[in-house]
Amino acid sequence: MKIGIIGSGVVAQTLGSGFLKHGHAVVLGTRTASRLAEWATDHPTGRVGSFAEAAHFGELVVLAVRGQVAAEALRLAGAENFAAKPVIDATNPIADAPPIHGVLRFFTNLDESLMERLQHEFPGARLVKAFNSVGSACMVNPQFAGGRPTMFICGNDEEAKIAVRGLLDELGWETADMGRVEAARAIEPLCMLWCIPGLLHNDWSHAFKLLT
Ligand SMILES: NC(=O)c1ccc[n+]([C@@H]2O[C@H](COP(=O)([O-])OP(=O)(O)OC[C@H]3O[C@@H](n4cnc5c(N)ncnc54)[C@H](OP(=O)(O)O)[C@@H]3O)[C@@H](O)[C@H]2O)c1
Repeated sequence: MKIGIIGSGVVAQTLGSGFLKHGHAVVLGTRTASRLAEWATDHPTGRVGSFAEAAHFGELVVLAVRGQVAAEALRLAGAENFAAKPVIDATNPIADAPPIHGVLRFFTNLDESLMERLQHEFPGARLVKAFNSVGSACMVNPQFAGGRPTMFICGNDEEAKIAVRGLLDELGWETADMGRVEAARAIEPLCMLWCIPGLLHNDWSHAFKLLT
């Protein structure tokens, strides 16, 4: 699959490397290509471009930028470049205010998630929340004694979620589909819960599993 990633941070780089490892074609998008010079050298089969070039390239697009600029990044990418495509939304609405006793602060509330805001502004995008509730070091084929961890996803488009489920399967995850975009109100705060052991005890190697 051709995958365009909007972002140059650790999440974009990690997922880009992971997708390349599994045989996909990847373009990473940034406003400043020099930020990705090392990644480009280490991954000669991957490519670097603008946000718009990455979005245009992808049959599937990943949004991996700071939550506060997520809408701005999609505007820069150009809605026409990701219209009707599955768009994995890995962002979290983390505010600038410092954590309180290890609990991150969000600029959203429990009645409106960041993904709902993005879906409202970009109705043509087939957004799927995924990869937001685990640290980058555990995103690609993580190894846990408890077996495959669970990625909670949501989104309004069933076909887009099937595509994302396929990628998650390759990257060593089981998928729990929590339904439509409003479920992001519950999935985004999983990031707060996931970060608490890290912020309190510098323990960042864990993931969620749904037991049934
Ligand atoms: N770090 C993790 O382990 C982790 C895990 C799960 C989810 N997440 C979420 O994933 C997202 C990405 O996290 P990250 O740590 O990889 O990167 P990040 O540092 O949060 O974001 C870097 C990206 O934001 C873009 N950006 C910054 N200011 C911008 C602006 N004014 N306009 C447009 N774009 C702007 C940068 O663009 P340029 O490329 O042009 O510099 C860069 O691509 C975040 O929402 C984060 O909450 C992070």
